[in-house]
Amino acid sequence: MDYDALLHEIAAQVRPLVGQGQVSRYIPALATMREDRFGIAVADVDGEVHGVGDWEVPFSIQSISKTFSLALTLARDGEHLWRRVGREPSGNPFNSLVQLEYENGVPRNPFINAGAIVVTDRLQTLTGDAGTAVLEFLRAESGNPAITADRDVADSEAAHGDRNAALAHFMASYGNLENPVPVVLEHYFRQCAVAMSCRDLALAGGFLARRGVRNDGSRLLTGSEAKRVNAVMLTCGTYDAAGDFAYRVGLPGKSGVGGGILAIVPGRCAVCVWSPGLDAHGNSVAGVAALDRFTTLTGWSVF
Ligand code: DON
Repeated sequence: MDYDALLHEIAAQVRPLVGQGQVSRYIPALATMREDRFGIAVADVDGEVHGVGDWEVPFSIQSISKTFSLALTLARDGEHLWRRVGREPSGNPFNSLVQLEYENGVPRNPFINAGAIVVTDRLQTLTGDAGTAVLEFLRAESGNPAITADRDVADSEAAHGDRNAALAHFMASYGNLENPVPVVLEHYFRQCAVAMSCRDLALAGGFLARRGVRNDGSRLLTGSEAKRVNAVMLTCGTYDAAGDFAYRVGLPGKSGVGGGILAIVPGRCAVCVWSPGLDAHGNSVAGVAALDRFTTLTGWSVF
C-alpha cells in the first residue's frame, strides 16, 4: 500500500469539510483551537508510520484516552470491571445523566463520561496513580517521552466540570466509586488533557491492531481482550453516533472533543485523524469523513 499517496488523496477529498462544525466550547481551554487544522496518520502493525497535514501537531486527546484507561484496567483486572460498568451503546450524549438513575449508578459503557470515570476509579485503585499510568503507557507506545498532560486544559475542565462532578457523586451515592470523587476527577481530567499528535496516537493504538501485543513485543491484552476493546469502540466509541460511524466507516473508533479520532483495522494498522470542528454528537466532521474515505478507498473495514 502506498500510504503517502492514499493519505494525500483523502486529505484532498475532505479539504472542503475542514473548518465545518464547531470547536468544543464547554472546555474553555479548547475553545481557542483553530478550526482549519487537519492531520491524518497511519501506523501499521510493524510500527511504520505515515502521515499528512498537521499529523505531528499535538492536540488534546480528550475521550480517546478512555480507550487506553480501559485497556490498562482490563489488563490488570480482567472481567471484574464489567460488574461496575456495562458494554451496551447508550444512545445518549457522552455526558448524559439520565440513564444512571434508573440503571442504579452503573453506566452503560466505559466510553461515556460516567463509564470512563468508573474505569479511572478502578485504575486508580489498581495503580495508585491512574493519570501517570495512562501517560507512561502513551509515552512508551508512541516512543515519544515528551508527551505530557496539559495542566491548563485539565484545570479548565475542573473549573467547568460540574457535569462530570455530578456524574461522579451520583455514582458514589450508589457505591460505584472506590476513591473520593475529587481524586477520581483529578485523574480523569489529567488523562483527558494529554496532548498528542496523530503520529503519536496511531502508534499508541498499535497494540489494538496487533491483537493485544505492545510495541516492544510484550503482551498487554490477550487476543480475546483486544477483540473486546475493539468491539466496545465499534459499538460505543462515538456515543449516540456509533451506528452512523459503523455504517460509514465500519471500524472500531474512539473520538474526543479535541477533534481526534483513533480507528483500528485489526491485524493491519491504526489510523488517527484530527480536525477540531465537531458535529452535534461531539465527533470531528472532517475526521469521520476522512475515515469514511479511508475504508472506502482501501476496502479495509471489519465488514
Ligand atoms: O469529560 C469530558 O467531557 C471531556 N474530558 C471528554 C469528552 C469527550 O471527549 C467526548 N468525546 N467526543
